Amino acid sequence: MSKEFKATEYILESVNTGNQFNDQGWTLDAPNEAEATLIRAIYAKKQIEVKDASHGIYRFSDWLPIHKTLKNSSAPVTYKSEGLAKRIGLNNLYITFSGYWPEKGANFTTGSFKETEAYSVCGRLSSDEKKVLVVASAGNTARAFAHVCSENNIPLLLCVPEDNIDALWFNKPIKDCVKLVVTKSGSDYFDAIHLSNLACQLDNFFTEGGAKNIARRDGMGTTTLSAVNEIGKIPDYYFQAVGSGTGAIAAWEANIRLIADGRFGNNKMKLMVSQNEPFVIMKDAWKADSRAILPMNNDEARKQVETIIAKVLSNRKPPYPIIGGLFDAMKDAGGDVLTATNDELLAAGKLFEELEGNDIHPAAAVATATLIKAVNNGTVGKDDLIMLNITGGGEEKFKRENEITYLKPSHIFDIDPDIETIKNVLDKLF
Ligand SMILES: Cc1ncc(COP(=O)(O)O)c(C=O)c1O
Repeated sequence: MSKEFKATEYILESVNTGNQFNDQGWTLDAPNEAEATLIRAIYAKKQIEVKDASHGIYRFSDWLPIHKTLKNSSAPVTYKSEGLAKRIGLNNLYITFSGYWPEKGANFTTGSFKETEAYSVCGRLSSDEKKVLVVASAGNTARAFAHVCSENNIPLLLCVPEDNIDALWFNKPIKDCVKLVVTKSGSDYFDAIHLSNLACQLDNFFTEGGAKNIARRDGMGTTTLSAVNEIGKIPDYYFQAVGSGTGAIAAWEANIRLIADGRFGNNKMKLMVSQNEPFVIMKDAWKADSRAILPMNNDEARKQVETIIAKVLSNRKPPYPIIGGLFDAMKDAGGDVLTATNDELLAAGKLFEELEGNDIHPAAAVATATLIKAVNNGTVGKDDLIMLNITGGGEEKFKRENEITYLKPSHIFDIDPDIETIKNVLDKLF
């Protein structure tokens, strides 16, 4: 498939100034602009032609900033809910599922929509790239990138906190081109990010870029493309649990492209994003009508993160304030930041499994719980067209049906290692 693929045509644009410029291969920022802003891909094709499901995620390649396709990807699957919809009293509930559910056509063997990012980001990578891609993650992102890079022989350095390495489960051994290094037990996601930033100061390594990477956002935007392709129109409401909020920014951007496409309506989906109580920093900022995340006590935040079940929703520096980020998306589209407790998410996850037939990730259960509450308190009406983004699921099913192996770390770093130590270690690994 890779050989026949013709690179997608696009130009880049600063969300802040509207300046347009070419992609230099891995452009993450607007050149010569002082104010921090996201940049966006403006695709040559205004009307998307969705290919058949055999293309995996690349069925949406018209709106992915890629010049090659990789093997074994899967696209998110959207279907009209019957069980859950009936129980909670909705007539137009569509579920977009990114996880493991082969019976429905969803084959994300790493179990979450982070795989959409990884296949898109790696499709943006030049085949001649000599440097090593660096990704820091607390779990699902690391698993997705490890899988995609291993399957496609792409050199990858993963930085993960040692306490999270249980998240690195796979159904086959990960190849040698992927190396895992960890920050020692007791450290957290921010220590892993710090390590990855130091690694990227070395000549041979470069950062993936997170929310700033157009390929990451447009990969996640395929959840919305899947929904609209299935439904035939843009939904009224979009429900998703957020840690960084990148998925919801991506949904908004896909929505803007779908309006310009002209065939699916003119409305913007209200972005109903959700967090796991008590870690609700974006709710606090949104309710205070503040672009900035409100000052927080770091010890308090760490304690809150220890409490929540949906750990992937624990980002303390989300791309919420940046121009083109979640604050702007929600101001433009409308919406709200909702919350669910651990008990509520556990109950919602159980209900989903009972009524729809598959287990879901705790984060996806947060989104489900907030949808149930929004129906009960009349925020959404029974005939509203609703997209529920189930961002992860089928993990238990996958583990039942497969033999699982774990990726082991090649090195354990102290919490704040010096650059010489890092260089010595990494030189031996790659
Ligand atoms: C399963 C799942 N759902 C939701 C999220 C939140 O995604 P984001 O806030 O990056 O859109 C994550 C992040 O890791 C995730 O793994």
